[in-house]
Amino acid sequence: MKSWSIFCLLTVLLAQGVFAVKKELFKRCDQSGFCQRNRHYAKEISQTKNNYYSIDTDSLIFGQSVISGIIQKSFNETFKVNLPFEIQVLENDSIRFKVDEDRSSFDLKSTSLLEKKRYDEAWKYAFAQEPKLSAKYQVSDSLDGHIAVRYGKSLEYSLDIDTASFQLTVSFDGEPQVVLNDRTFFNVEHIRAKDQQVPNMLPEETDFDTFRDSFKDSKRDTLPFGPESIAVDVSFKGFRHVYGIPEHADTMSLKDTTSSEPYRLYNVDIFEYETNSKLPMYGAIPLMVAHKSGLSTGLFWVNGADTFIDVKKEGTDTQTHWISENGVIDLVIFIAKTPQEITKNYAALTGTTQLPQLFSLGYHQCRWNYNDEDDVLTVSKTMDEYEIPYDVIWLDVEYTVEKKYFTWNPAHFPDPERMMAKLDETGRTLVAIIDPHLKLDYPVSDELVKHDLALKTNKGDNFKGHCWPGESYWIDTFNPKSQAFWNDQFSNDSAFGGSAINLHIWNDMNEPSVFSGPETTTPKDVITHGNFEIRSDHNIYGLTYHQATYGALKQRYVNKRPFILTRSYFAGSQRTAAMWTGDNMSQWSYLKISLPMLLTQNIVNMPFGGADVGGFFGDPSKELLTRWYQAGIWYPFFRAHAHIDSRRREPWIAGEPYTDIMRDAVRLRYRLLPLFYTKFFESSKFGDVVLEPLFYKFPDDESLFGIEDEFFVGGLLVKPVTDEGAQTVEIHLPDDEVYYDHENYSVVQGKGQKTIAAPLEKIPVFFRGGTITPRKDRYRRSSKLMKYDPYTLVVAVGTQNKAHGTLYIDDGETFNYESGEYLYTSFDYDNGTISGQALEGQSGFTGSVTVEKLQLLVPDIKVFNGFHKASVTQDGASWEASISMDNGSLIIANPKVDLSGSWRIDLV
Ligand code: NOJ
Repeated sequence: MKSWSIFCLLTVLLAQGVFAVKKELFKRCDQSGFCQRNRHYAKEISQTKNNYYSIDTDSLIFGQSVISGIIQKSFNETFKVNLPFEIQVLENDSIRFKVDEDRSSFDLKSTSLLEKKRYDEAWKYAFAQEPKLSAKYQVSDSLDGHIAVRYGKSLEYSLDIDTASFQLTVSFDGEPQVVLNDRTFFNVEHIRAKDQQVPNMLPEETDFDTFRDSFKDSKRDTLPFGPESIAVDVSFKGFRHVYGIPEHADTMSLKDTTSSEPYRLYNVDIFEYETNSKLPMYGAIPLMVAHKSGLSTGLFWVNGADTFIDVKKEGTDTQTHWISENGVIDLVIFIAKTPQEITKNYAALTGTTQLPQLFSLGYHQCRWNYNDEDDVLTVSKTMDEYEIPYDVIWLDVEYTVEKKYFTWNPAHFPDPERMMAKLDETGRTLVAIIDPHLKLDYPVSDELVKHDLALKTNKGDNFKGHCWPGESYWIDTFNPKSQAFWNDQFSNDSAFGGSAINLHIWNDMNEPSVFSGPETTTPKDVITHGNFEIRSDHNIYGLTYHQATYGALKQRYVNKRPFILTRSYFAGSQRTAAMWTGDNMSQWSYLKISLPMLLTQNIVNMPFGGADVGGFFGDPSKELLTRWYQAGIWYPFFRAHAHIDSRRREPWIAGEPYTDIMRDAVRLRYRLLPLFYTKFFESSKFGDVVLEPLFYKFPDDESLFGIEDEFFVGGLLVKPVTDEGAQTVEIHLPDDEVYYDHENYSVVQGKGQKTIAAPLEKIPVFFRGGTITPRKDRYRRSSKLMKYDPYTLVVAVGTQNKAHGTLYIDDGETFNYESGEYLYTSFDYDNGTISGQALEGQSGFTGSVTVEKLQLLVPDIKVFNGFHKASVTQDGASWEASISMDNGSLIIANPKVDLSGSWRIDLV
């Protein structure tokens, strides 16, 4: 079938939503030359035990925290390949290992447009800044071919470099923890000419698809460099569980792939993806976290090319095999006592998540499509009639003229600024979609071409392919010059947004999705800025695109934090965008899988994520939709979305009792916005997770390492209901603390499995004893309208008769917090006394913040018998507040404390 006919068919089928995932569109390992060759190589090496790689000890240079030299690949006495390497000891107890290839003597045809050197740019996009070398470092070069490096704050970690067999071993307490090249699968396919392949080939490197790609759609892939893959095996000793490497619709603890496909990282538009699958998806964060009681490690594979990862469970070890199509080997090994520290150390390297505007933590109402201004404003008004708070309404591709981005269809949106001004009256925001494909022949794409900013073919022409608007160009956001062009499109003078500042952006299809391309994306020999094939930087394209949008919005708004939702992402994307899990389906299994998928996003430091509430394809039953809202309110990014052919399903449509229950759920999210905002601040400042897997809080309890359907948000333990017809849930209490039901304050206690009643109206959520949760309890139409509302503090007293919590407050919109205009305060309860004290960083905060209620939960309310009132002290003055009992809790009403200072309340 001609590609145009395939495109038409795809478009029709996509629009009708009748497709199940087409696995055959995506390469399996055995259809991907480099993956097949390396799996084959691994198999051969396991049998022959041959080793072709060793360190040339004469080449070694010892610098301060850096060791460099040459790894030699030798086939025989006469043919050797030099692979320069560098080992850096970085701050935050990590080791970086880089291997390049010396290609200087290779003659790349002078007619080639391409860069001859291996791609070594991925780190520039992934890292927040140049990594800093550690000062905590000691090296000794022993005689028997081993180099020993000690590092870490008290030199508690060591790295052993075995020069002869070329192995790197990271140890703690004298015990090996991470071994690189443990099984000698290390392999760098060196550059060679097409006609030279036989003499230069290792016996174990088969000629499977070295200079051709036999996958059906890949005829246009010219494979100009032939084989150039890189591969390393990494063993985690004593670690049964490994996590991370999103994006896959799979379990949180990764599975053995010995008899299946490897996990693949290759950003693709995988519509109607399957659950429990290792197929590639829209985004790629090549960070794996391994954890066992007492120790955690991480491996960050800094590579943006097509990558396959095999996982093998071997006794108590997990063995992994990382295979990328090209680029340099650039990896970082993290080690720490807890998984949270691994996430933090990775965040220190790649940047923490952005602090989002407060509105973006509210509820987002989306569908493909809200048709016109009247539709948008009617939905907005109806939310208010039903008293369902919401912050953002979204426009999908149909708002444009023929999917030409930066245009508005005048028949449907005659005056977008007027519409946005109306939304702004109730504090609402509009998010509009802008995709990276620009339809041929209209002013924006004409300008793109004029400025020479499109992706190119390998002949140097502008690359053309098909997407929503038909034949299109793709902006090359690897090119730094594209930023100015992109800024112009979003500027206040452009026809697009006018001067509205309640307009934010959705970047979709940025894998990039190319309907007419192999595996629904660009051919791999398309050229990006710098004369690199997209083969090398494919997984980074989405990041460059949403970063350009971030830059453009930052300029447009002067001092407002841009909100951008991206479908495609890479390590580093957390600095500027939120993600969602793409085109899921209105089925229970997709609700269920959303939890491990989003917990994984937290583990890899991109916590601002969500899944389409209700499911994208299809029509959820009323029960499923209701349960999805009850789960969705815990997604860090909480948006309902639906396919164009799905029936309308705004929360009022299902009718009672469903609408009531969904309203209650959304309102609970709004009451908890202070908690979510505080968690995001702590994530943006310290690299904390927002949704916390149980094993993050209890890293020494092996029984929790696989739990993926429960999590903490601050002091709340949440177990969403994800089974049809469920009237109860089994919840696993991770410890012996007291847990209070969030509505009726009844107590459950005792580590282990508990059966909890969960009729449709019930969300199983518990305050963990020992925590203090900030809330704002008054209903308002949007988060902006809650700005001056007073707080409620829920003090869940723990078994030690203590509790602790934090609260972050700023203006919710601007960057002024960066210069100290914020309040970060902590609260403590200790045996009848509650106190608050500001933590660091609030020097510029000038507002006063009031509390309308303190609610104390205790296992036995009788402990408060004999108390009659509360005595409040602040700034040298004292006054009294009344106390009362409510449903087994103690209420201190309107204590009149100002949270921006220190205060104390004693029960008397
Ligand atoms: C694909 C996205 O995943 C989906 O959310 C969106 O509605 C469609 N593109 C149309 O823009």
